[in-house]
Amino acid sequence: MSKSANSHDQHLSDKKLPSNKNNHEQEPSQKHDLSGDLSVTALYTAGVWHWAGFKYSELLSSIESERVFKVTNFALGVMRLFRWNLPRLPQGLAQRHQLIDQLSQESQAHTIIELASGLSTRALRLSHAPKLSSLQQYIEIDLPHVIAHKRECLEQQDQLSSIVKFLSQDLKRFKADEFQENVTLSEPITMIAEGLVMYLTAEELKVLFTELSILLQSHSGRLIFDWVPSIEEPPPGLIGKGLGYLMKLFTGGDSFERDQRSRDDMKALLYDLGAHNVTLYDTHLVAQSRHLPFAHAKTQQLIFCADF
Ligand SMILES: C[S@@+](CC[C@H](N)C(=O)[O-])C[C@H]1O[C@@H](n2cnc3c(N)ncnc32)[C@H](O)[C@@H]1O
Repeated sequence: MSKSANSHDQHLSDKKLPSNKNNHEQEPSQKHDLSGDLSVTALYTAGVWHWAGFKYSELLSSIESERVFKVTNFALGVMRLFRWNLPRLPQGLAQRHQLIDQLSQESQAHTIIELASGLSTRALRLSHAPKLSSLQQYIEIDLPHVIAHKRECLEQQDQLSSIVKFLSQDLKRFKADEFQENVTLSEPITMIAEGLVMYLTAEELKVLFTELSILLQSHSGRLIFDWVPSIEEPPPGLIGKGLGYLMKLFTGGDSFERDQRSRDDMKALLYDLGAHNVTLYDTHLVAQSRHLPFAHAKTQQLIFCADF
């Protein structure tokens, strides 16, 4: 793995580690707090993955992730009393997670780079997937304390894989040339960004995607990410406002970015950056044909799959 990844990881700040119920008898040597910034959202999704039964999710489930999962769902339940037809969030996220697994496997990538990987155990699932026998390396990127926490949890449970590498990096400062200096990419590559784009401003996203497109164009790659335009959310954005309020409470200020961009604007950006094919998947439209979980639930998740 990259020299910078290792050196980044050696300079991690000590914070409080959420207790993992699978290894809670072992006192962790380092402590990494996943509350107070956007990394708390990884606790919620870890709760969803465990609740929905994703393979290996129990490895990164914790008392804290279960608590964030329950509190958020309770708040959503209260909102549903006023708007009974709101899309189902955990079910939608489970569909999104599974569809991204499928699209990644179909890519036949030799290298997968998962941006903002949080507490997802996709790396373990895909590195054992028979359909993806071509996979040679899987690189996970997230903020330093998230990576430190994840690596420590997996290490304690003897689940570190030789093909899965970790890189601590603020994606708002991601630079393709710095990345390429330290990592040799075996192509084709697939990049995944699940649960990230909604937290970036239009400008931050453009800067990040411009850097990613340099790697994608030079290594023949696929970019998979999710994003529901705010203008498509239920009027007047009640679910978004409620979740935004909850999130600000958990993260100490960060929340979803809202603007007037449409799905066509996002497609246009991807084509401008060099994509030759962009396919969109509305989870509720493909749930049955793709054998996604909770196929009969009302969900609202949109996946972009761009080939470069
Ligand atoms: C909603 S979680 C999604 C985690 C994972 N992709 C999943 O689906 O379970 C958002 C993740 O984005 C990460 N994140 C947010 N801003 C980031 C940044 N600027 N650089 C790197 N990671 C970031 C958080 O730490 C968190 O793990």
